[in-house]
Amino acid sequence: MQHTQQIACIFDLDGVLVDTAVYHYKAWKQLANSLGFDFTQLQNEQLKGVNRMRSLEMILDWGGMQKSAEEKEELASLKNSWYVAMINKMTTDEVLPGSLTLLTELKSSGIKIALGSASKNSSIILQRTNLAHFFDAIVDGNSVTTSKPDPEVFLKAAEMLNTEPENCVVFEDAQAGVMAALAGNMKVIGIGDEEHLKETHLIAKDLSEITLGKILALRNN
Ligand code: BG6
Ligand code: MG
Repeated sequence: MQHTQQIACIFDLDGVLVDTAVYHYKAWKQLANSLGFDFTQLQNEQLKGVNRMRSLEMILDWGGMQKSAEEKEELASLKNSWYVAMINKMTTDEVLPGSLTLLTELKSSGIKIALGSASKNSSIILQRTNLAHFFDAIVDGNSVTTSKPDPEVFLKAAEMLNTEPENCVVFEDAQAGVMAALAGNMKVIGIGDEEHLKETHLIAKDLSEITLGKILALRNN
C-alpha cells in the first residue's frame, strides 16, 4: 500500500459518474431533427467527451449544413437550454452504479480525486446528484480552452492535485477522453464496452467492477 499516497484519480463526469450521456443525445437529436436531418447512435459515440461547439460542428457536418458563427452560437445555446431543462430534474438515482462506493473508498483511503470533464454544466450536475463533496479539484469546460482528445483538462487536474501525470488514473467513457488521458501520459480505465473503447489499460462496464486494489495494480504496473 506504500504507493497509495501517490495515486490520484480523475473522473470524467457524463457517462462515468452520472447518466447524462442520454440527455446530451436527446437534446442533440432534437436539434438535428429541427434542422431536418438525423444522426445515428454510432455517430453519437463520436460526440462523447467532445465539447459543445465542436459537437455542434460535427453534427452540422453530418447534416451537410453550414452556419455562420452567430448561428452556431444560437444553435448551441438552444441545445443547451433543452439539456439544462433535463439535468435540472436530475436526482441522486441517476448516479451510475458503483460510483458512490468507489468514491467513498478512495476518499477514505486518502486518495486525491479530481473531476476532468468537458462540460460547462458540471456544477449543477454535481449539486443535483450530491457528488460535489468528493472532489479535491474540479476542472471542467469552464476552465479549459481545448477539447478532449487534447490532454489539457487532465493535465490541469493533475496540477491542481499537485501531482505528476504518471501518478494519475483517469476514468473515461469516451474514446476522445481515452486519447486525452494517454496523450497526458496517464493510466486510463475505460467505462463501457470494448466495441467503442480502444487502447485503455483496463475496461469495465461500470464503476461497480472497480476497486482500489485494481487501481493500485494498474498504477504499479
Ligand atoms: C461531455 C459530454 O462530458 O461534455 C459531451 O460527453 C458534451 O457530450 C460535453 O458535449 C460538453 O457538455 P456541456 O454540458 O458543456 O454542453
Ligand atoms: Mg463522458
